[in-house]
Amino acid sequence: MIALRGAALSYGGRTLWRGLDLDVAPGEFLAVVGPNGSGKTSLLRVLLGLQRPSSGTVAVDGRRPRRGGAGIGYVPQHRAVPPHTPLRARDLVRLGVDGHRWGPGRPRRDVRRRVDAALADVGAAAFADVPLELLSGGELQRVRVAQALAAGPRVLLCDEPLASLDARYQRVVAGLVDRRRREHGTTVVFVTHDIDPVLPFADRLLDMGTTRVTEAPARAAAGARPCRSETV
Ligand SMILES: Nc1ncnc2c1ncn2[C@@H]1O[C@H](COP(=O)(O)OP(=O)(O)O)[C@@H](O)[C@H]1O
Ligand SMILES: [Mg+2]
Repeated sequence: MIALRGAALSYGGRTLWRGLDLDVAPGEFLAVVGPNGSGKTSLLRVLLGLQRPSSGTVAVDGRRPRRGGAGIGYVPQHRAVPPHTPLRARDLVRLGVDGHRWGPGRPRRDVRRRVDAALADVGAAAFADVPLELLSGGELQRVRVAQALAAGPRVLLCDEPLASLDARYQRVVAGLVDRRRREHGTTVVFVTHDIDPVLPFADRLLDMGTTRVTEAPARAAAGARPCRSETV
């Protein structure tokens, strides 16, 4: 589903990473770790087609990534919403459900049900009608996760979605992402500093500091094959 060969990324004369060879299979959960500035966000931007690698090749679903590609869900690294954004939590999630469709879409009741279910999954039902700019960082982050999941992505790219969450919601969010890939075969690339909440779920770990991929400890202990593809 995702394939990088000899990929490198430099800004000006500074190389963030190089020699990155990686295959992520459908339904696989890859956790990405690494120090600040090691190029984790930049890797996701490459997979989104927002940034060209300096060398090597990148394919997502067999094609070179391009902006606005269908079927790719993205939870950006936390940032505040611009003041006066005229959206409530439920509006943001609704954009995930039908924001990319034009013309007569799904019946309203069906959309509403999916939005409510996605909000409930992340424990956001109580603030569904609150304007985004009034939400706490952790609440907003959960709404962004709900939006990405509600869109039904085939590939889900998450940039530190656990960063402003308490321990309980870290487990909830990691568990929801895991459920998505188990039930729908969604491929997951999950950047995180807090590795503990994802260890029960991740198949493999990519350290952007070294570009090395290792099997997650839980998998290694179980002796399970992490996926159908191998790191080259
Ligand atoms: N478009 C850009 N032009 C120049 N430098 C950039 C650009 N984007 C990111 N950087 C720099 O690259 C480094 C890695 O950024 P990033 O991918 O955000 O790392 P991480 O997510 O691992 O913290 C940072 O030092 C950042 O300032
Ligand atoms: Mg980052």
